[in-house]
Amino acid sequence: MSNLIIVGAQWGDEGKGKVVDIITEKADLVVRFQGGNNAGHTLVVDGQKYALRLVPSGILHPGKTGVIANGVVVDPDVLLEEIDALNARGVKVSPDVLKISEKAHIIMPYHRDLDLAREGAKGEDKIGTTGRGIGPAYEDKAARSGLRMGDLKNLDSFRAKAAAAMREKIHLLKNLYKAETASLDEIMEKARLWRERLSPYLADARRVVQKAMNDGRNILFEGAQGVLLDIDHGSYPFVTSSNPVAGSVTTGVGLAPQKIEGVMALVKAYSTRVGAGPFPTELSGGPGDFLRKQGAEFGTVTGRPRRCGWLDAVVVKNSVELCGADHLAVTKLDVLSGLSELKIATHYMLDDEKIDFIPADVHDFERCQPVYETWPGFFNDISRARKLEDLPDSARRYLERLAELCGAPLGLVSVGPDREQTIMLHEYF
Ligand code: GDP
Ligand code: IMO
Ligand code: MG
Repeated sequence: MSNLIIVGAQWGDEGKGKVVDIITEKADLVVRFQGGNNAGHTLVVDGQKYALRLVPSGILHPGKTGVIANGVVVDPDVLLEEIDALNARGVKVSPDVLKISEKAHIIMPYHRDLDLAREGAKGEDKIGTTGRGIGPAYEDKAARSGLRMGDLKNLDSFRAKAAAAMREKIHLLKNLYKAETASLDEIMEKARLWRERLSPYLADARRVVQKAMNDGRNILFEGAQGVLLDIDHGSYPFVTSSNPVAGSVTTGVGLAPQKIEGVMALVKAYSTRVGAGPFPTELSGGPGDFLRKQGAEFGTVTGRPRRCGWLDAVVVKNSVELCGADHLAVTKLDVLSGLSELKIATHYMLDDEKIDFIPADVHDFERCQPVYETWPGFFNDISRARKLEDLPDSARRYLERLAELCGAPLGLVSVGPDREQTIMLHEYF
């Protein structure tokens, strides 16, 4: 295997950052292919915490190349802040180690303002977006009125394109939402800075990846969000505006499907969701509060408390199928320690019918009642486990059952946020 896609199998925040960081040791390139700075990927190395939003999670390994491919939407202000913060902590981020696709779309200030204004206007019906302008930026991409990172090369045409794109936005923001946004002059001031600082990073990312592949180098594709937030296959409209499924690498980077060699589905040992939308196994109070507290389930990007619930094997099985996952990486198993029993949803009841799939209609999905299996829990501190044999029997049985129900074997189990707190069960690369 010389390439591997890592995707979130639930609603995001499965621990993709940690797992990408670990597997990067054997990789040469780490490529982000969708999403933007709605992602918050946390890595803990030697007790030091790093929260990444746009820079690929392999960056902490010297000598590896990070790629932000065309499928990503980039807020240049956020990216520059992230680059500066990493450099200030001694993590070298330079054009030698980070390549940004000229085709990646830019999140403009008016995208952010529109995202916030729309969510505000929706009130009770809001999606609970991260407010980072992700949706409006992808809308403009599809509407063919977006600006791309490569547009920074020619500021005259950048100005003309921005002026054309802004006309409609300003009208909406001012008249419909009674909101302010940056002027064209203010945007151009930013664009000059973006051009000065980010031009050296621009590359034809597809060719960078293709060359690495031709040269036999190992490539890791780092997903953001999770399958249930996929704009096509998630619980629409409570989704993000990109495709977090594995197949998205083909368009988000520009890679032929038969070149994909491996897919790993990341599964948190329980479920969490930030924002609105169906969540059949959600727990209010009791074990839900326990999971939020033990798992520190508060958003990396927005700090919002995450909704917590039992593991949903219907959801994970759906993701394994959709992504063709070869392995599961189960994270945060340690968080379950202290619960006397553990539940796994194996099916749903939709009215009087027992089903083992996610209904396509979101209203049906909202009505699904989980059918649970109950397994004995465990109380030991498992954060020092490095082999499956180090785990209590009940934790092992829970993992075995999860893999069986979801239809893919275990590749890795994570028992704490740090790099070392990992049980490796498969050699990648
Ligand atoms: P991502 O968006 O998928 O990269 O996940 P996040 O970084 O948003 O959220 C996962 C959180 O759990 C982060 O704070 C990680 O440091 C932490 N984490 C990852 N794996 C484990 C684990 O096995 N156990 C515990 N306790 N924390 C973990
Ligand atoms: P990572 O990569 C969890 C959720 C938001 C909201 C919906 C739409 O860290 O796993 P958006 O701002 O994308 O338009 O919001 O998607 N969401 C995430 N939830 N993890 C993420 O990323 C998310 N990115 C977006 O909370 O419900
Ligand atoms: Mg996250």
